[in-house]
Amino acid sequence: MSAHGDPIPMTARRSGPLKGEAVVPGDKSISHRALILGALAVGETRISGLLEGQDVLDTARAMRAFGAGVTHEGPGAWTVQGVGVGGFAEPPDVIDCGNSGTGVRLIMGAMATSPVTATFTGDASLRKRPMGRVTEPLALFGTRAFGRQGGRLPMTLIGAAEPAPVRYAVPVPSAQVKSAVLLAGLNAPGETVVIEREATRDHTERMLAGFGATLRVEDGAEGRAIVLTGQPELRPQTIAVPRDPSSAAFPVAAGLIVEGSDVLVPGIGLNPTRAGLFTTLREMGADLSYENAREEGGEPVADLRARFSPDMTGIEVPPERAPSMIDEYPILAVVAAFADGATVMRGIGELRVKECDRIAAMVTGLRACGAEVEEGEDWMIVHGHGPGSLPGGAICATHLDHRIAMSFLCAGLAAQRPVSIDDGGPIATSFPIFEGLMAALGAAFARGTE
Ligand code: S3P
Repeated sequence: MSAHGDPIPMTARRSGPLKGEAVVPGDKSISHRALILGALAVGETRISGLLEGQDVLDTARAMRAFGAGVTHEGPGAWTVQGVGVGGFAEPPDVIDCGNSGTGVRLIMGAMATSPVTATFTGDASLRKRPMGRVTEPLALFGTRAFGRQGGRLPMTLIGAAEPAPVRYAVPVPSAQVKSAVLLAGLNAPGETVVIEREATRDHTERMLAGFGATLRVEDGAEGRAIVLTGQPELRPQTIAVPRDPSSAAFPVAAGLIVEGSDVLVPGIGLNPTRAGLFTTLREMGADLSYENAREEGGEPVADLRARFSPDMTGIEVPPERAPSMIDEYPILAVVAAFADGATVMRGIGELRVKECDRIAAMVTGLRACGAEVEEGEDWMIVHGHGPGSLPGGAICATHLDHRIAMSFLCAGLAAQRPVSIDDGGPIATSFPIFEGLMAALGAAFARGTE
């Protein structure tokens, strides 16, 4: 399955019980960060369990272009020869980050305070997404950016030769923006302070500390302030990437909505800044348990067991939980269609600037499948009618968005009639083994549309 080739139409139809173990790939957020921080350390970082999805492969290629040595040693096993903070070389060509907002925004931050110039681009989805949210704080360091109207890619950044440290309050809840500023702060003298009103995923902070950077977190009236001391020498690390909760979300959700299912999803990272979906599903009455809870590589991990849950009810998802499940609203909307009553999702305006406008994509696709859905600028409500109730029988547009594609395929597994998607290609950006893994559980997937 290719993320960049011709569209791959796919269809999911009502399936028998899903049974077995779903071993999902490594965490995408942590994989990007392992490559980037590995490139900024002095010496060899060893990574196991790296997600070998297209997004992360594009980041690996970018790190090579900035001068790091990045070697694929075996399945999920990679080494990175870092060039040290401030050691990036000028890339010889345009950096193509493909579909990945995380890749491009983190890499922009990582190069912003080195005296190099780089031009970034991406696919049709990424070229529509706002980069101003990153280039505005980077300008405070002295970085200059020249892009298309509205701060869109392609965009050239000229790194600050004499960066000043920055104090920046992130105006939107975004781990990408927070991380870009922290990565830029690495090569600025003195203390860079990033303040977030709502806590977002903290993998950058955890990993920076692991690589030996000096940083502290202060909770104050303005929010959570991360204070980073610039110009450290980062020490190379051995990193075991936990399995991605955002990928686990799909076999878990399918297990809950497909009659008779019992699916085990082992070794899932349950960092509290990421696990909001699972809390929400349990509040809805899902039969979802955490088994064998443990800690691996500084992150909480457990095996998730999801069983068919005929008695789920709609709930109001607390808006303050949104950052911890921001990528999971599309699949939650699908589960909600099989619960009883209204699932109310508020405070989700950020969904409109993801790989596509995810509120619009889910509302349009779910309505085409016969669901009753309401939307507003930053909210969505799905009125569910219980197990097996979704009529289905639609072809849903996925807009180059892997999570929209996987969400509608999961819907088709429990709907009355098949659900097709126009393009499953983007699934390879984050979950390249999705199709085979789900089929092995018993999912009836086929290529082509109905
Ligand atoms: C990510 C942060 C989130 C998330 C994305 C991964 C990260 O984006 O949607 O899939 O790895 O930092 P925002 O920071 O824009 O919310």
